[in-house]
Amino acid sequence: MPLVNMKPVLREAMAKGYAVAAFNLLDFSTTKAMIKAAEELEAPVIVQVSAKTIKYFSHKEVFSWVATVAEDSPSPVVLHLDHCKDLEVIRKCAETGWTSVMIDASDQPFEKNLELSKRVQEIADKHGCGLEAELGQILGVEDDMVVTEEEGQHLTTPEDAVRFTSQLDLAAFAAAVGTAHGYYKGEPKVAFDLIKEINSQTHVPMALHGGTGLDEDTIRRCIAGGCAKINISTNLKHVFVESFTGFHRDNPKDFEPLHLIDAQYQACKALFKSKIAEFGGTGKAAEVLSKAA
Ligand code: 13P
Repeated sequence: MPLVNMKPVLREAMAKGYAVAAFNLLDFSTTKAMIKAAEELEAPVIVQVSAKTIKYFSHKEVFSWVATVAEDSPSPVVLHLDHCKDLEVIRKCAETGWTSVMIDASDQPFEKNLELSKRVQEIADKHGCGLEAELGQILGVEDDMVVTEEEGQHLTTPEDAVRFTSQLDLAAFAAAVGTAHGYYKGEPKVAFDLIKEINSQTHVPMALHGGTGLDEDTIRRCIAGGCAKINISTNLKHVFVESFTGFHRDNPKDFEPLHLIDAQYQACKALFKSKIAEFGGTGKAAEVLSKAA
């Protein structure tokens, strides 16, 4: 089926108390694996792409992969641009048919962040896309940009969150709530009460960044607080590399590339299925479609 807008998908997830898994694709094979995983679980899925990945491929190539696989799938699929600072890239994706975009101007002062987010809102509205915007800086490395603890994580305050989201019409709100991109060095310090407070005051589904390495209880509490989109990237990168190199290590004489590609595909699909199920997406495709249509 055609790609779907992220806004109704996440509103439905928040209302029903689960989160839609969002995975950062790496190539065609991972794209297909995430949509097939969703299909096998009758779940919605968000296929998202980092700005670095579309610089390597292109917004058109990526669109054609995702739209082609989604077209033959009964599962609702969102194609989302993750953390983007470049309005021209955002515009091109929206014009090409992507169904959600993220403006990340969180390194800017509040007013500038809001102004840029409003400009992207216009682009998103014009093309029928969902919009995600970020307030407060999330720790870790995203697209080679590093936000360290020394710089201090500026947790988003509920007051700022309300001031920001009330002037936008967001599909997803990314707030700094203690999670970080990449593997956690110690115990993650997730501010569960803050998530709940922000969500109860804004009523906007929250995007939980830094999903890799959070245990099931943490995920459960984040979803209960209002996180309706959970991002997984680092975990996938590791499974992608290790399944490929692991197959070669175990089968050093096998030079049939399709065997390696399939081992990698199956390992990635297993990861996607376990995360979709853990976040509560199993069996939700039909309900989502009735709301997103
Ligand atoms: P991880 O790399 O920690 O999984 O975070 C992904 C993410 O939030 C992408 O925006």
